[in-house]
Amino acid sequence: MSLPVVLISEEEIQQRVAALAERISNEYGDDDELVLVGVLKGSFIFLADLARKLTIPRTIEFIAVSSYGSGSKSTGAVRLVMDVRGNIEDKHVLIVEDIVDTGHTLKYLIGMLESHRPASVKTCALVRKAERAEVDVNVDYLGFDIGDEWVVGYGLDYAEQNRTLPYIGVVKPTDEFDAFIHAAALWPLLRWIQA
Ligand code: IMP
Ligand code: MG
Repeated sequence: MSLPVVLISEEEIQQRVAALAERISNEYGDDDELVLVGVLKGSFIFLADLARKLTIPRTIEFIAVSSYGSGSKSTGAVRLVMDVRGNIEDKHVLIVEDIVDTGHTLKYLIGMLESHRPASVKTCALVRKAERAEVDVNVDYLGFDIGDEWVVGYGLDYAEQNRTLPYIGVVKPTDEFDAFIHAAALWPLLRWIQA
């Protein structure tokens, strides 16, 4: 299988993450206790880079959700798989997401974390597919807007593959098509073996 085609290069990502970290550091300041809540699994690399570039006091929490449905099709129903461990009451929370697609996950997470009675809840996402939005959800700190395409790398996956690529890439549709053709080509052989 060929490597995904580069959509956002490693250099562009690193520059954008540094700019986001600078903005977040300036806007929160040293007096606030900031809790970064990373959404597993997709945000793990973004969170690691962003957290290390911040210049203000911060702690790390993780949360895990899964959306009902299969493959790349989201049904909009979100289920909490793992809640934050630490106490976030009266603290400033920044949700760190890999990608906002329909927006259902982020909207659910905001409501969920607000029930812990934090001082504030804001959102940070590396990528957003604006034209796919189904619900209105505010992204306070956004890395990049992209079109309606499936992206992988820098934490993002397709069927658990390609999470550790240093760049964000698009999986070529031909890869899946090739796989289909290869599988189809094997059918006559399998039937011949069975016969
Ligand atoms: P939403 O609830 O539709 O906004 O879906 C958000 C979640 O779907 C993200 O947190 C990702 O886990 C996943 N997702 C959506 N689009 C992509 C993509 O292009 N690549 C990888 N994961 C994606
Ligand atoms: Mg995610």
